[in-house]
Amino acid sequence: MCGIVGHLGPKNSVNIVLEGLKRLEYRGYDSAGVSYIDEHNELQIYKKTGKLENLKNLLGDQDFKARMCIGHTRWATHGEVNDTNSHPHMKDHISIVHNGIIENASTLRKQLTASGYEFKSQTDSEVFLSLLVTELAKGKGFKKAMVDSFAQVEGNSAFVVLNKDVNEIMSIKKGAPLVCGINEVNSEVFISSDPYALAGMASKLYFPGDEVLCHLSASNKNLLNFYDLEGNPTENYMSKNQDMSVGPTDKGDFEHFMLKEIHEQPELIRSLTQFYFQGEGLKSLLKAGEFKPSKFHITACGTAYYAGLLIRDFIETFNRIPCSTELASEFRYRNPLLNKDEASLFISQSGETADTLAAQELCTTNNVKTLSVVNVDGSTLFRNCDDNLLIRAGIEIGVASTKAFTQQALTGRLLSLSLSDELKDETKRVALTAKFSLLAEKIDHLISRSEEIKTIAESIHNHKGFFYTGRGKYFPVALEGALKLKEIAYVHAEGYAAGELKHGPIAMIDEDMVNVALVGPELFEKTISNIQEIKARKGIIVTIGPKDEEELEELSDYYFGIDFDGLDELSPVYINIVNQLLAYYIAKYKGTDIDKPRNLAKSVTVE
Ligand code: M6R
Repeated sequence: MCGIVGHLGPKNSVNIVLEGLKRLEYRGYDSAGVSYIDEHNELQIYKKTGKLENLKNLLGDQDFKARMCIGHTRWATHGEVNDTNSHPHMKDHISIVHNGIIENASTLRKQLTASGYEFKSQTDSEVFLSLLVTELAKGKGFKKAMVDSFAQVEGNSAFVVLNKDVNEIMSIKKGAPLVCGINEVNSEVFISSDPYALAGMASKLYFPGDEVLCHLSASNKNLLNFYDLEGNPTENYMSKNQDMSVGPTDKGDFEHFMLKEIHEQPELIRSLTQFYFQGEGLKSLLKAGEFKPSKFHITACGTAYYAGLLIRDFIETFNRIPCSTELASEFRYRNPLLNKDEASLFISQSGETADTLAAQELCTTNNVKTLSVVNVDGSTLFRNCDDNLLIRAGIEIGVASTKAFTQQALTGRLLSLSLSDELKDETKRVALTAKFSLLAEKIDHLISRSEEIKTIAESIHNHKGFFYTGRGKYFPVALEGALKLKEIAYVHAEGYAAGELKHGPIAMIDEDMVNVALVGPELFEKTISNIQEIKARKGIIVTIGPKDEEELEELSDYYFGIDFDGLDELSPVYINIVNQLLAYYIAKYKGTDIDKPRNLAKSVTVE
C-alpha cells in the first residue's frame, strides 16, 4: 500500500527520499510527494498524481540543499486520486505522511471542522494533521502533541511527521509497518515503511513496536531515539544489521519483472532445497517440525491462501494432521475455536499483510503456537511468530505473485516432511533433493516452451470470460490461475472445482467462454467427463494436462501436454507455471500494466 520514506542527515535528503520511493514503486501507488526544509529554512511540499516520474518533473532540475525530507507514495483509500489528496499534507510548519486507515476519521473530521479547522483534502490522513496542529496550538511539545493526537485515532496506521519549528521528524504507528535506520558513518537517520527502501543506505535497522515514538533529530547525541507513550526512553524495538542489496530490481533482458520472476523459479527451487536439505536451513526446518500439533490453522490472503490450500493437502496427506485453511480477513472476525495443542501457520510474501498479522495476533493471544512461511526476513509477521520458515524467493517486484507462490507451496512441503521426521535421515534427504531437482528441471523445460503458451494466449485473449477448473490437488491451482489472470489481464476469470461447475456456473458457458482445464494424472477420467460437459455447451477448451493423451487432445481446442512423471505431490506447482505464463501472455496481448496492475498494491497493509 502506501510507501513512506524519510531522511535526516548532511547529504541531500530529497534525492535520498526519491531514491527510496523509487524502490517502493513496485508496491503499487497512484501518486507521490515529498516535503522538505530548504536552505532558506522554508518548508516545501511537492506532490503529483501518477508515477514518481511526474513528481520528479514537477521538482525539476533543482540543486536541493535539504537536510530533512519525508516522502510518500499513495495508494488511495479515502478520497479520489488527485494532487490535493496526495501526501504529504501540510499546515503551518508541519507536514505529514500516513500509511493505513483512520477508522473514526469522519467523526473526527466533523468535530475538527466544527471547531474551525479547514480541510484541504478528502483524506483521513489530514485528520491526523489537524489533530496535531490543534494539540500543538494548545502549547504542547512535539512529543506530547504526537501522543495525544495518536490517542484519538482508531485503526491501524503509521504517521511520519516533519516539524520545521524544531527541525525534527517524529513517527508513531500501530499495526502498520515501519522501520528506522541509521548510518553512523554519514550521520544519517532514515525512516520507511519498508526496509528495502533503505537497502545500501542504512547500516542498521530498527523495527519499533506499536505505540513507540520514533524521534529523528540531528541535535541529539543519538540521531534516533525511541520513547513510550509517557515520553520515557524505551527499548520496545528490534534491531538488526541491514543486509539487503538493491541489485535484484534490475529487469535484465526481460520485458517485465513478472516474466523475470517466472524464469527465476527453477534456480530458486534448487537453492531452497540446498538450503533446507543440506545447508544451514536444516536446523530451523527440523525445529519447525518438532511440535506435532493436533491441528493446523492455516491462514493467509490471496495467492498465499492458495499456497495454503496446497500446504493443507501436503500436511493432511502425509502427516494426517487435520488442517483448516482460511482467509485471514474472515478468520480474524470469526471467533474461531483455538486450542493450546494446535498450531497456526501463516503464509505471506511480504509479512506485512494486515489481515494475516491480525490473525496471527489472535492465535498468539489464544496461546496457539504460531509459525510463518514468509519471504521477507525481519517483516512484522516474521518478528511476531514463534517460528519462521523463510521461502527464500528474493525480492518479488511484480505485483502478481509468481515465484513466491511456488516457494511458499514448496516450503510447506518441506514443513510436512519435517513433521514426519523424514529429514533426519540423510539418505532420504538425498532422494528428496533429487525430486525437487526434477521439478526444477521440468519447469526449465516448460519455460523453454513459452512460445507455445504465447500462441494459445494470442488466440484466446479476447474472449469474455475464463473458468479455470481442476480437481483434487489441482483445484487450488485453478483458483490461483484465475486470480493471476484477473489481476493482470483485467478479465473475468473464476477458479472452480471441475466437478462443481454443473451445480450452477455451467449456465454461463457458451462459445465465448474459455475453460482452462488443469488435468493431472489423478482423477483423469473424471476430469475428462467434466471437460466433455463444457465442450457440449460450446465452451472453448484449453487443456493443460498429461502429454500424449489423444483423447484429451481431441477434446481440446488447445492442448498443452506436459510431463508429470516423478513429480507426484509437487505436480500442482508444476502445472501452475503454465498458468503464470498463460496469464502473462494474455495480459501482454491486452496491453495492461503487467508489473503494476491498476488498483493493486504489492503489500496490503490495510484490512
Ligand atoms: O504479502 P502476502 O503474501 O501476504 O500478500 C497476500 C496477497 O495480497 C497477495 O498474494 C496477492 O493476492 C497477490 N497480488 C496475488 O498475486
